[in-house]
Formats: sequence, structure tokens, C-alpha cells
Amino acid sequence: MSDRSAALPDLGHAAAIPGRPLKPGSGEHKHAFCRMLLDTFNPYKPAVIDWPKLDQDARDRLVALPIWDIAVQTEGRARLNVATYAARQSDLLLKQAIELNAFEEGRHKHVLSNLVAAYGIALAPEPEYVTPKDPEWAFMVTGYSECIDSFFAFGLFEAAKRSGFFPEELVDTFEPVIQEEARHILFFANWVKWHRRTMPLWRRPYFELKVGAVWAFLIWERIGIARNVGNGVQDNNFTVTGAKQVGADIEVAQLMDICLSENARRMSFYDPRLLRPSTVPALVRFIRRFM
Ligand SMILES: [Fe+2]
Ligand SMILES: [Fe+2]
Repeated sequence: MSDRSAALPDLGHAAAIPGRPLKPGSGEHKHAFCRMLLDTFNPYKPAVIDWPKLDQDARDRLVALPIWDIAVQTEGRARLNVATYAARQSDLLLKQAIELNAFEEGRHKHVLSNLVAAYGIALAPEPEYVTPKDPEWAFMVTGYSECIDSFFAFGLFEAAKRSGFFPEELVDTFEPVIQEEARHILFFANWVKWHRRTMPLWRRPYFELKVGAVWAFLIWERIGIARNVGNGVQDNNFTVTGAKQVGADIEVAQLMDICLSENARRMSFYDPRLLRPSTVPALVRFIRRFM
């Protein structure tokens, strides 16, 4: 960015907020997770990002990463999914926060589009983005998939930084996008908890089935698409393809440790009373014990 300071995450009020614990589903809880997102907004503008000049090697490595099509399309779909859910909110604060989330997804797509243009990366034509028929389902698919992908992206980003895969200026330029995903999954984890507690009791069993179906869909999507690896189709397995490219000889166990510590670090900037996304870190911690 021309103004380098604008590239740093704006953590707003962040840090420790003392006070009694939040009662999940309370108005205070909703206020805290919505304010967390709204008050830590970083007003950077994709159009003024000054993409650093890369030497030939660094540029070639970047161009060869098989993630650009899927990354741009994921952000495009995320924007529409989140915006559609925002539109049906009657609670003003919640609507404002979810609208901001959608705005940021659109901005991620914008940043990525500028990045690929700046480095001459060719993209596959984008599919048509279809407005979801069930906005709650679509919001949850985006939310939970970000919980999976962001957790691993935090670690891969740090591994790429350490190995020098990405030059430092590029890491700095891209940092706000990664930190925004940390805010999104923190917001989403709290929204799920709040939503669960505030919906009518009769709807709860249906909602839990829906949560299970979303996870099943995301696992199926990741396994199903993995089968296309080698067919020239870009897949959603950022971790597998990304780790191979970015960390070179990094071991899986080591990568898991980096993901865990980066996840904890990125979450540490926000209101400690808010619930942290826990499923993916717990699963990784469990698998890690056998390694
Ligand atoms: Fe995003
Ligand atoms: Fe996001």
C-alpha cells in the first residue's frame, strides 16, 4: 500500500476488555460480537495497494500456486452468501455487522483480482454467482468453511513468511486480508452460539441437523474436489496443495503447531469474553497427539 501503515491490521479497541463473562444468547453477547467486528474495521482501499515488485523467482513461485481461481471464486461466493443473509436481518446491529462482513468478502475478491492482475496471473473464467435459496444455509456454509480454511491459512501464511516463500513486502500487503478472516470466524462462532440460544426451542433440532449437514457438505466438498487434483482443476484443499508449495520440507506436525499458535495469536487481539472458534483447533490438537 502506498500508505504502509494502512496495511497493518487495525485492531481498534481490541485487547483485554475486563468485565463479567457474557451470557451466550444475551443482548450483551450480541452487542459484544457485533461491536468486535464493527469497531476493528480496517478502512484500507484495494485500489491504492501498491503491489511490491518481485524478482523473477518470487513472481514465478506466486504464479505457480494453484489457488488463485478457487480463492477469487470463494470470495465471490462468500460475498453473495453473507450479503443475502444480511438482507434478511431485522436486528439493525446484527444486520450492520453482517453487511460489513459481506463488504469485506467483496473487498478480498477485489484485492485478489488486483494481485493476479499485478503479477500477470491468468484466471479461469468465473462462474455465475447464484443467490442462495436458503440464506441461513449459505451463511453457515461460508462461516464453517472459513473456520476450516482460515485456521490452516494462518499457519501456511506464517510458514511462507518464515521460509521466505513470500517476500516481506508482499506479506505485509496481504496481512489485513488474513486478519479479517480471523475476525470473521470469531464473529461467526459467536453468532452460531447466539443464534442457537435465541431461536424458538422447536427449531433447535432442525438447526442442529442443519449444522451437521453443513459439516458433511464441507467434508464431502473437500474430499470430492480432492479427487480432481491432477486433472488441472483447482481444489478447495488449500492446506494440501498450499503446504506442498509454500513450506517446501515443512513437516505436517510442525505445520499443525504453527497453525495452532498462529490461531491463538490472531484471536488474542479481541474481547476475551467472546467465544473462540474451537472445533478445528480441537480436532487438530487431537490428531497432533498421535504424531
Ligand atoms: Fe474472505
Ligand atoms: Fe471471511
